[in-house]
Amino acid sequence: MKVNFIKSAQDPKGYPQAKLPEYAFVGRSNVGKSSLINMLADAKGLAKTSSTPGKTRLLNFFSVDDQWILVDVPGYGFAKISKSQREHWGDMVRDYVLKRQTLLYTFVLVDSRLKPQKSDTAFLEWLGENNLPFALVFTKADKLSRNKVHSNVAAYKRALLEKWEELPPIFITSSEEKTGKAEILNFITGCNSEYGSLVTGAFN
Ligand code: GTP
Ligand code: MG
Repeated sequence: MKVNFIKSAQDPKGYPQAKLPEYAFVGRSNVGKSSLINMLADAKGLAKTSSTPGKTRLLNFFSVDDQWILVDVPGYGFAKISKSQREHWGDMVRDYVLKRQTLLYTFVLVDSRLKPQKSDTAFLEWLGENNLPFALVFTKADKLSRNKVHSNVAAYKRALLEKWEELPPIFITSSEEKTGKAEILNFITGCNSEYGSLVTGAFN
């Protein structure tokens, strides 16, 4: 897989050209977005990871095999930032997710150790209200036993089904142990080919 950093941006003027199918990775600060992106890309230092939450502040665009675009979105729910910074984050992310025409899926990352968190649930609901497709990625599965991961995921699904009629695609991952990678990449490949046939269809 050939992954190249394209650019960082904070508003539509700065986004790269909207040509390739795109996938965004969003989630609370420190949930493991940058680590997951590095795992998918097979490159350690590609997306900056850090034990200090709030490291990623701009939208970071990467091209993958010149076929699709991956976006590392700065994390939400980081307590130690000011209200105005938080609002700025909200505007930047909402703007991006709502307006980016080539964005096919938003991957929402949640920590597999935790119960549904308010900020996650609020973001998922906002996506739903706006009819935006998303998938759910459970991170850091290596920090729990397999049984515990599955019972947490099952509890999460039950919570989702109280609000939703259908479950989103769900992935269980560990960037540490490199699990869940093939599943996510296969899913993206499938979406890319659907997108490809739609785009081709439009010109036939
Ligand atoms: P922000 O950019 O601040 O929003 O954080 P992020 O979501 O990009 O998180 P990042 O990938 O920087 O990871 C945060 C911390 O969690 C780092 O110390 C990582 O090493 C650790 N971490 C991430 N993924 C995993 C994982 O799958 N397993 C384990 N054990 N640790 C992980
Ligand atoms: Mg990050």
